[in-house]
Amino acid sequence: MGVLWWPVFVVGVLVLESALIADGGLTSSFVRKVEKTIDMPLDSDVFTTPPGYNAPQQVHITQGDHVGKAMIVSWVTMDEPGSNTVYYWRQNSKRKMKAEGMLTKYSFFNYTSGFIHHCNITHLKHDTKYNYMVGTGHTTRTFWFTTPPEVGPDVPYTFGLIGDLGQSYDSNITLSHYEMNPVKGQTVLFVGDISYADNYPNHDNRRWDSWGRFAERSTAYQPWIWTVGNHEIDFAPEIGEDEPFKPYSHRYHVPYKSSGSTAPFWYSIKRASAHIIVLASYSAYGKYTPQYKWLEQELPKVNRTETPWLIVLMHSPWYNSYNYHYMEGETMRVMYEPWFVKYKVDVVFAGHVHAYERSERVSNIAYNIVNGICKPVTDQSAPVYITIGDGGNLEGLATNMTEPQPEYSAFREASFGHATFDIKNRTHAFYGWHRNQDGSAVTGDTMWFYNRYWHPEDESTSV
Ligand SMILES: *[C@@H]1O[C@H](CO)[C@@H](O)[C@H](O)[C@H]1NC(C)=O
Ligand SMILES: *[C@@H]1O[C@H](CO)[C@@H](O)[C@H](O)[C@H]1NC(C)=O
Ligand SMILES: *[C@@H]1O[C@H](CO)[C@@H](O)[C@H](O)[C@H]1NC(C)=O
Ligand SMILES: *[C@@H]1O[C@H](CO)[C@@H](O)[C@H](O)[C@H]1NC(C)=O
Ligand SMILES: *[C@@H]1O[C@H](CO)[C@@H](O)[C@H](O)[C@H]1NC(C)=O
Ligand SMILES: *[C@@H]1O[C@H](CO)[C@@H](O)[C@H](O)[C@H]1NC(C)=O
Ligand SMILES: [Fe+2]
Repeated sequence: MGVLWWPVFVVGVLVLESALIADGGLTSSFVRKVEKTIDMPLDSDVFTTPPGYNAPQQVHITQGDHVGKAMIVSWVTMDEPGSNTVYYWRQNSKRKMKAEGMLTKYSFFNYTSGFIHHCNITHLKHDTKYNYMVGTGHTTRTFWFTTPPEVGPDVPYTFGLIGDLGQSYDSNITLSHYEMNPVKGQTVLFVGDISYADNYPNHDNRRWDSWGRFAERSTAYQPWIWTVGNHEIDFAPEIGEDEPFKPYSHRYHVPYKSSGSTAPFWYSIKRASAHIIVLASYSAYGKYTPQYKWLEQELPKVNRTETPWLIVLMHSPWYNSYNYHYMEGETMRVMYEPWFVKYKVDVVFAGHVHAYERSERVSNIAYNIVNGICKPVTDQSAPVYITIGDGGNLEGLATNMTEPQPEYSAFREASFGHATFDIKNRTHAFYGWHRNQDGSAVTGDTMWFYNRYWHPEDESTSV
């Protein structure tokens, strides 16, 4: 999609009166073939159990500390607990090191999980390829990962963006497109809603296992940074399951303590030239709550000299012009948006709405109950808001949009896909969204991001 033609905002000036009747940015004319989105059956190739007695399966890794010198390796064994040990070695070295992990398991209604292992590998060297082996004592499997470069202002790094993935045929296409994208993502920022097991009777937790096996081809080789979504809540008191996030919390560990968080649902990491803040749409965020107090002290700690790029992940979007989950993010927006503007967040990625949308830089923080000023306005200190909940889960696409397109909405399209955020240096990052119908190199929406701290110029695409 090329240049957009509606002059919605005038550079440096507030919204024109005449813009009130104008449409927003672009609603893509691409029409996706309408097909039912269905889950791959349990006997699909992507769900195959690795052969061998007690073979590790569902292998996944995520950053284990605050700066990228540790990695949490997780896997599941089905026959017996087996070993918690991970052997790892630098690619060009024969010297094997080992780390000890821990074991957990849980039950959910009439399901009992396999043996879930988590091991934090520490003291890794930056920018180094490591092999690692799990399954010691029984069937072993070996994978590899590359650690990020040391945190610093001009370190190029490429993040993949995936949301609401699920395990449908479309999910498989999204993941394949991400893998084949010539812009090679080094770490996935995942904005929530993983397996959609909760759409099955009694939240059939075998679908958590099948998702783990499906995604392993990516999650075992590069870290996925986890955000919690509503499909991770698994709150089902009607079948005796009243502990929210039970399957998720047992299966996916994150380094929340390293950022002073008191719960695994909100936390931060630094990776290369980015400071990434993960927020929880489904944990309390009002004033005085643990998440509020954490975010209040976290934002002033962000050092843009060290990490120029400030990225926020959350599940429920604040700016969303589809008629799905409409305004669900509004209460959190009211609480935190003034901070995002004050601290000049570069970009906010959210999911939840099963479609794609990108906003202009806008804020809506002037309203004070009595003044009636409640309209989003152009704000060069505000983030760009991107909804990337189009991973392809079984619930299908969100296609119904509010009309006319709001002025703040730069681009929207109801297609499955993924994106990459390719940081070049402290001032520039190239962002590209890819729809599943196109070849893997084709972008459906692109934008050069100018860093809000180092190069806060207007880079909007519709002026
Ligand atoms: C769990 O309960 C469901 C519904 O009653 C049943 O179909 C399924 O076979 C049960 N699973 C196990 C492991 O007992
Ligand atoms: C999933 O995608 C992979 C890679 O493109 C392919 O090999 C596999 O057959 C697909 N599986 C299904 C069930 O679509
Ligand atoms: C992993 O180890 C590092 C280094 O000791 C530590 O800072 C971090 O908190 C640990 N992470 C977890 C999840 O235990
Ligand atoms: C911010 O990071 C830079 C570069 O690492 C460092 O020199 C500076 O002391 C840090 N500032 C603060 C307030 O920690
Ligand atoms: C789209 O959403 C609006 C608002 O919820 C609703 O009134 C309308 O009927 C929907 N249109 C379709 C085609 O579903
Ligand atoms: C930062 O990257 C952009 C895009 O690649 C480039 O145009 C610019 O010259 C770079 N800045 C510096 C200081 O290298
Ligand atoms: Fe969701």
